[in-house]
Amino acid sequence: MPANEPQLRIPGPTPLPDAIRDAGSRQMVNHRGPEFKALIERVVVGLKRAFRTENDVLILGCSGTGGLEAAVVNHLSPGDAVLGVSIGSFGDRFARIASRYGADVTKLDAEWGRASDPAEVEREIEAMKAAGRPPKAVLLTFNETSTGITNPLRELAAAVRRAAPDTLILVDAVSGLGAVALETDAWDLDVVVTGSQKSWMVPPGLAMVSVSKRAWAAAEQAEMPRFYFDLAAHRTFLEKGETPWTPMISVLFQLDVALGMLEREGWEAIYQRHIACGEATRAGLDAMGFRLFADRRYASDTCTAAWLPDGVDWSVLGKELRSRGLVLAGGQGKMAGRILRVGHLGAVTVDEILAALEILEDGAAAVGIDIKRGVAVDAAARAAEAVLGTRSRAAVADEALATTA
Ligand SMILES: Cc1ncc(COP(=O)(O)O)c(C=O)c1O
Repeated sequence: MPANEPQLRIPGPTPLPDAIRDAGSRQMVNHRGPEFKALIERVVVGLKRAFRTENDVLILGCSGTGGLEAAVVNHLSPGDAVLGVSIGSFGDRFARIASRYGADVTKLDAEWGRASDPAEVEREIEAMKAAGRPPKAVLLTFNETSTGITNPLRELAAAVRRAAPDTLILVDAVSGLGAVALETDAWDLDVVVTGSQKSWMVPPGLAMVSVSKRAWAAAEQAEMPRFYFDLAAHRTFLEKGETPWTPMISVLFQLDVALGMLEREGWEAIYQRHIACGEATRAGLDAMGFRLFADRRYASDTCTAAWLPDGVDWSVLGKELRSRGLVLAGGQGKMAGRILRVGHLGAVTVDEILAALEILEDGAAAVGIDIKRGVAVDAAARAAEAVLGTRSRAAVADEALATTA
């Protein structure tokens, strides 16, 4: 990253390694020609490995929200009963999309900062069945970016299957997949959605969506309107190495390079690197005296939220940090002005987290926040070491990312 660029530590878009930047400036190819066919086929193979699935994986030209809309409109009909399980702003959005297209949505909300409870989900499905409205689909969030929580997705999916074996499980994995282990097939997830600007280290522009056999069967009956997001059209065109509409060719070039880098690092190493960065961020904030927002047991390894101390104006702190070369995110929705969020997903290393914490410490002190000085970086480094074994192993993980860049 050039020295004059601020460190972007928001939960997406995430910083682009140099090789991925370069890939974005390549000359165009014919999207109905052999170069594009080879490109999309290679990318889909890589994505299937990342999603841990044999299901179809389709690539849409839109942000993550478009992928969520595709998950809804391809598999449901107006009037279908749907259970929208929400733990924050993005869970609310997923449920709102379904309502907007006419689904009969029951919301199951957890307090922001907490994870969804599998037993509660199971009870809610039983209640819907008893009321004669068994859910046609359950909407789940993998990683809730507005609060910094990673849901126990495997347990949630198992709870859904116990209560309603044939229900569709539609998953918003926009900000988790590719950084935190997720098993599409082993957990029997029907539709899983992610977005290019998160863990994948590429710019915004693509939603990647996996679709199970159960979901394809539902699609044949589903009557919600769809055109641009018609997944059956995407599947038909993918069979000949194309997309139905003009694809985001540059972002696909970049995703191709990114998948190569990620596979060279190895998925297990990537998950460990994110756990180490998450632990380091939490330990550093905690040591400075920030109160962490999320239930520690489910704290996200891609995004950490912390309460702003009373009387602290986020716009003042955010501006101060930016002037020092660090960009963090504020709160969303009802948490706007009350929390700050640190993104640590995609091309991120432990050393970058330590550097960010140092800037945060100086910037917070500069705007008059009463924080503990001189302890955060050590605490964070120790927390990362506890994950990666020794400092030298942390360095190895950092190096792996640097050398693939
Ligand atoms: C969990 C989650 N879901 C959905 C979205 C929406 O994605 P997009 O902003 O790409 O439409 C985001 C983006 O931050 C997200 O973090």
